[in-house]
Amino acid sequence: MEIHIVTDAAEGAQAVADVFARTLRETAADGTVLGLATGSSPVPAYTELIRRHREERLSFAGVQAFLLDEYVGLPPGHEQSYHRFIRENFTSHVDIEDAAVHSPDGAAADPAAEAADYDRRIGEAGGVDLQILGIGSNGHIAFNEPGSSLASRTRVVGLTRRTIADNARFFENAEDVPVRALSQGLGTIREARRIVLTATGEGKAEAVAQLAEGAISARWPATSLQLHPDVTVVVDEAAASRLE
Ligand code: F6R
Repeated sequence: MEIHIVTDAAEGAQAVADVFARTLRETAADGTVLGLATGSSPVPAYTELIRRHREERLSFAGVQAFLLDEYVGLPPGHEQSYHRFIRENFTSHVDIEDAAVHSPDGAAADPAAEAADYDRRIGEAGGVDLQILGIGSNGHIAFNEPGSSLASRTRVVGLTRRTIADNARFFENAEDVPVRALSQGLGTIREARRIVLTATGEGKAEAVAQLAEGAISARWPATSLQLHPDVTVVVDEAAASRLE
């Protein structure tokens, strides 16, 4: 695991975008497969990638993208769906076709079957070349909350009461807030050939220290990334403050 400590969000965005650019260079000939995260952490990197696309002709032609997770009950076009989020914050601003942006279908009649099919679709595309991740303050990655199996596959997960309460502000009615999600598992995520995780702020410091230095355990799901041979962690000084 390589750890880069950066001074601010702009420097972090450069470092993450560099990993994307390197991966695109190395894999474009075979059709790059990107794994994309939502949430606030990757947004500065997405903004930097959009700038490089516009000003430096960084091309995403032929790229397939797979999201980490989606709320159960929300169709891809829903205002709060992660599919919509990634289009608005990244893919619709670069040369990635909408049809090449894949997410678990939150509106699927049989979410468990959809989850299994999602892993199959990732495999069929050749597997993920680069997965970008954020991390929760409790060490979750995607919706793999503490207690998730380190070998887990894409599946239906219940959201914690805390996550449901955090999400309530985005919905008009409390009963509209999703209580379940389809999430790539920790085993699925580790199949990506390269991973870059980014985090900022003191609130992430304990999770980052566990990620890099803690014992591998389902209590801190991100510790499972220690088993992966190609992980780059890009953190600011606050998020790095509890590293030894
Ligand atoms: C996003 C995701 C989540 C976030 C994590 C951090 O697709 O799966 O695990 O990466 O909750 O969220 P932010 O970046 O908003 O702090």
